[in-house]
Amino acid sequence: MDHHRSRRPFSGSHHRQSVYTRDRNDRKGRCDNSLLRPRNHHQWQSGSTPEQNPLTSQTLSTRKELYERDFPLYKQPVEVGCFSLDAQRRFFNDGRQMRYYVEPDKNPNFDLRDGYEDRYVKRDESVKEKLDHILRWILANRLKLKSKASSHALDFDFVTWRGHLTKLLTTPYETRDGWLLAVTKFKDTLYISEVETEAARRDRENRPEWNHKMMYWGYKFEQYMCADNAHGLPDSSGVVNTNEAFCTVVQTRLTDHKLLFSGEVDCRDKDPSVPPPACYVELKTSAEICTPKQRSNFHRFKLLKWWAQSFLPGVPRVVAGFRDRDGTVVSVDTFPIAKVSQLIKNEPNCWKPTVCMNFTCDFLSFLKRIATEDNPSVVYLVSWEPLKDVTYSVHRDSCFSFLPLWYVEAMGSCQDSHHQP
Ligand code: A3P
Ligand code: MG
Repeated sequence: MDHHRSRRPFSGSHHRQSVYTRDRNDRKGRCDNSLLRPRNHHQWQSGSTPEQNPLTSQTLSTRKELYERDFPLYKQPVEVGCFSLDAQRRFFNDGRQMRYYVEPDKNPNFDLRDGYEDRYVKRDESVKEKLDHILRWILANRLKLKSKASSHALDFDFVTWRGHLTKLLTTPYETRDGWLLAVTKFKDTLYISEVETEAARRDRENRPEWNHKMMYWGYKFEQYMCADNAHGLPDSSGVVNTNEAFCTVVQTRLTDHKLLFSGEVDCRDKDPSVPPPACYVELKTSAEICTPKQRSNFHRFKLLKWWAQSFLPGVPRVVAGFRDRDGTVVSVDTFPIAKVSQLIKNEPNCWKPTVCMNFTCDFLSFLKRIATEDNPSVVYLVSWEPLKDVTYSVHRDSCFSFLPLWYVEAMGSCQDSHHQP
């Protein structure tokens, strides 16, 4: 069966799910995804072949036409807490890294190149933190998180990063980058943690210098727009350190999927009367728009990513700095997230919010169907490449396992939030 032609997003029976018991590592000890080969198709369900049991052999189509139905229920996200990561990437269970939005001039002339050579501390992207910061936050806040009746399990179906959900929302429209997600079921909650694809690792390790510079520009813009306290002003003479982060933790529901996720927030409105997440502001940079073609591309590609990222945690506005080719911000504009669908309405071949949300909803249902074994050392590795269906394989005690022992032990015990590393 050609699953890209199928009218049903779920399909079964002919695509085998693969089972791995041990994964090969390369010489540096990394999981090498490209070396993975199935060892035994039938190992985890002895006595039944995938053909006999469609629930063990499913794929999911990402064709956008399959997801054009009514917008699914997405509850207003509620902030349940926040945490901060300092200049050394240390976790703090508080909002110490919160920054405050400062309204700029209409034509600000910010020089985004300033400080790249001498005032830039870049986070080490080869260090994979997985869900560790969120797990730390969960342990520190267990008492205030609602537990399921008569158990110490969390009352959430999914725990993940906002960024992973953003990738899911944009999948039906993505033509270039695939993804790999590790999923573990533990005490009835599915934890979703991204695994870097081989292609993404190659790109990161071979990033050209111009690309490094442009990444810096985005962070430098944040520095020009933010103050460290509600009454302060931005200090553009300081160091840009991308280890520092303020993260919100929100809970919400997408149809019957109860979600807990965290995402980095750039800054908040100074007005203390507006509660989070409505007070939050997402900052972005983009090339200035000079032609109709550039405007159309901005609507079709940039606004999709911006909308998905901010809609998820209920961040109501994106403030964008438009830069010229030399890296000077020539204008600043505000994009209310609620108005984005109007902005793109007349754009031919454009993306639709309902497709993004329905695909994500069906994807989460798909995970609930495949990730059935409740075991912190089992990983369902779910992968997707453009033009293909979503597929998965199962890994036991492998290098893909990502729930740390300190979390599993603390959650397994009946102890309170004092029991953490
Ligand atoms: P822009 O937002 O202006 O592109 P975020 O906007 O998500 O808060 O991220 C801040 C900056 O980090 C981005 O600025 C960009 O410079 C850099 N950045 C974030 N995600 C990136 C990615 N996937 N690839 C390259 N740079 C990225
Ligand atoms: Mg930003």
